Amino acid sequence: MKATPELIELLNDALARELRAQAMYAHYAAYVKGIHCLHLKPYFESEAAESVLHAQTVRNALVRLGGIAVTERSTQAIEHSTDYREMLKEALKTERESQAAYQTILPLLKEDEELYDAIEQILFAEERSVEELLQVI
Ligand SMILES: [Fe+2]
Repeated sequence: MKATPELIELLNDALARELRAQAMYAHYAAYVKGIHCLHLKPYFESEAAESVLHAQTVRNALVRLGGIAVTERSTQAIEHSTDYREMLKEALKTERESQAAYQTILPLLKEDEELYDAIEQILFAEERSVEELLQVI
């Protein structure tokens, strides 16, 4: 399929968000402490790893469509905190924004079944993350 500049921009925005999410989750995994550390540290670490995989998928989509993938993360600040509740709130905000970004992208990929499926899988993962976070916040 032929990608519009708008689609390339949207995919690059999603990629920059994944690069930011990766840094945010790695940061929170390092700073979470106390009793919550036991389950939140591995949770944040697995979310960081998931962001790496999502970034890889989106980057490959950009290559396939002939776009140039960004290498910088989103400029949206990563709020430092040692309070796990603040971390979870920031995580929820991040996941909701990613979810919205993929919801916008998905209908634009209808002509390419393979890309559509790949991005849909990411969207499902973001939706799962939002649901999980809503249960613990
Ligand atoms: Fe993601």
